[in-house]
Amino acid sequence: MFCSGWLVWFTRFALVFLPSEAAKPHIIFHVIDDFGWDDPGFRNQQISTPTLNMFHEKGITLNQYYVQPSCSPSRATFMSGRMPLHTGINDWIPNKAYGLPLGETTLPQLLSTAGYKCHAVGKWHLGFFQTEYTPTFRGFDSFYGYYEGSEDYFKHVTSGGFDLHRESQPRCGPGCTQLAWQDVNQYSTNLFADEALRIIDRHNASEPLFLYQAWQGVHAPRQVPEYYVEPYLHRINDTARRAFAGMVTAVDEGIGNITKALEEKKMLANSVVIVTTDNGGPIVDCAGIGASNRPLRGGKCSLWEGGTRGTSLLFAPRYAQQNFAWQGLMHGADWLPTLVEGAAEQRILPGATKPLDGMNVWKQLIGNLPSPRRELYYGLSDSSVGHHGPALRSGHWKLIVGTGGGSGDHPPWWRNFSKLLNLTDDHRPRLFNLQEDPEERCEVIGQDERVSSMLSTIHAYQASSVPQRQGDPSCPSFAPHKSFEGPWLGPWCDVAEVVV
Ligand SMILES: *[C@@H]1O[C@H](CO)[C@@H](O)[C@H](O)[C@H]1NC(C)=O
Ligand SMILES: *[C@@H]1O[C@H](CO)[C@@H](O)[C@H](O)[C@H]1NC(C)=O
Ligand SMILES: *[C@@H]1O[C@H](CO)[C@@H](O)[C@H](O)[C@H]1NC(C)=O
Ligand SMILES: *[C@@H]1O[C@H](CO)[C@@H](O)[C@H](O)[C@H]1NC(C)=O
Ligand SMILES: *[C@@H]1O[C@H](CO)[C@@H](O)[C@H](O)[C@H]1NC(C)=O
Repeated sequence: MFCSGWLVWFTRFALVFLPSEAAKPHIIFHVIDDFGWDDPGFRNQQISTPTLNMFHEKGITLNQYYVQPSCSPSRATFMSGRMPLHTGINDWIPNKAYGLPLGETTLPQLLSTAGYKCHAVGKWHLGFFQTEYTPTFRGFDSFYGYYEGSEDYFKHVTSGGFDLHRESQPRCGPGCTQLAWQDVNQYSTNLFADEALRIIDRHNASEPLFLYQAWQGVHAPRQVPEYYVEPYLHRINDTARRAFAGMVTAVDEGIGNITKALEEKKMLANSVVIVTTDNGGPIVDCAGIGASNRPLRGGKCSLWEGGTRGTSLLFAPRYAQQNFAWQGLMHGADWLPTLVEGAAEQRILPGATKPLDGMNVWKQLIGNLPSPRRELYYGLSDSSVGHHGPALRSGHWKLIVGTGGGSGDHPPWWRNFSKLLNLTDDHRPRLFNLQEDPEERCEVIGQDERVSSMLSTIHAYQASSVPQRQGDPSCPSFAPHKSFEGPWLGPWCDVAEVVV
């Protein structure tokens, strides 16, 4: 399983198949769920990720890239190009009657207008209370995956019901969507990789492809076929971390299989392959099962660097000047304009979307130039939900108002440090200099002017925020549907079904 002979083969011969300059690139967008800073093999040699290591060696490693501290908010930024304060998705979406608002224009909708065929595989977690919120109504031509945020990797069950759907056409919905009961007992990482292979196999390579590949791995629960864990028996002593490493390797193998399929179909040389996490690795809070963000402080569900500075790579053989670590500041919301206007060269016309928070950083990213983004608001639009904050990054300064959230204790100095910071006092602004102190060990004092200027920027952001989305009160409360095969998850508030 650690063999990567084809990677060597590929990197030697791929450039022979350079496409014509005009063809829009295929875009493969891998989201690895809950993947920590310290979890890819190119940062931690204990873990085997030959495919990610190849992307790291032959492509671009994003070193100052940020995501939201939990899943739905980040996925909403990928899809809409807008920040949580403007989508109202500040925390993971529970089974309540809301989702990514229908007024948001999505990345696949925009890419479709540029001629792309768009497919989604894996986790959705942007709402499914009504059919209109499901992926094939949000711009995707097909979907194979689950609507909720996590589930059993083999049984595909969560919240009391089966959640693995196959939707084979745009606006699929009732009568079209199929439950994939036949896939019970198969590991989702294999299922999702195989689905991508089918999509690539059927795809007409002279049309541009957008594949949104949202892996279930490496989110809780900690489940993986023993086959992937065995090679770690003598490498990792901690049994949780060992099984987690197996989950990571399985996802890396799936990404490898997809990359190989692109290569075999002569599509890879004209592909932009992106890998991103949706948040930092969960350490203690929010279902930590073995991820690590060392040496960064904190984890998922916190605004510390460990929760928000995300692992991300870009592998795009067609574009020059590869193989570097990009130091430019970037946020997950930037992918939408970066891919649509940058990679696909499709202008987003005024009014085609709501005002974007994301910035097109394509030229700077592939050209290894300074980022146009100077500032990043990590904050939440409603302090009653989600995680502590708000926080602002301005240049290399970061101001966290409050505790930053989370009780992650991974770095060995954490316990002592949290005493120093007095994390029970949660309304004070705390300033850090990320250039000198990327691990957020030392609070900077005596910079009152900087702090008050950053606070007023935070207040300006807050003034533009919309309220956190709440469930539609006219909908019944969530319950799985019943069928002969068993209970299953699906829209529970379609207008036709609501009994008034
Ligand atoms: C990758 O492909 C190999 C060879 O077909 C297969 O044995 C393996 O299960 C695949 N891995 C995943 C994660 O699907
Ligand atoms: C593939 O796409 C091209 C460009 O749209 C089209 O001309 C061609 O007919 C398509 N091939 C097939 C087999 O559909
Ligand atoms: C695993 O534990 C054994 C026995 O305690 C120890 O000798 C070995 O150094 C440990 N290995 C690692 C990789 O930590
Ligand atoms: C934490 O503080 C204790 C007591 O002051 C000290 O003995 C210990 O070395 C400290 N640990 C670290 C990692 O700094
Ligand atoms: C920490 O902050 C709390 C709340 O402001 C305060 O009651 C407590 O005395 C502080 N503890 C220390 C050790 O400063």
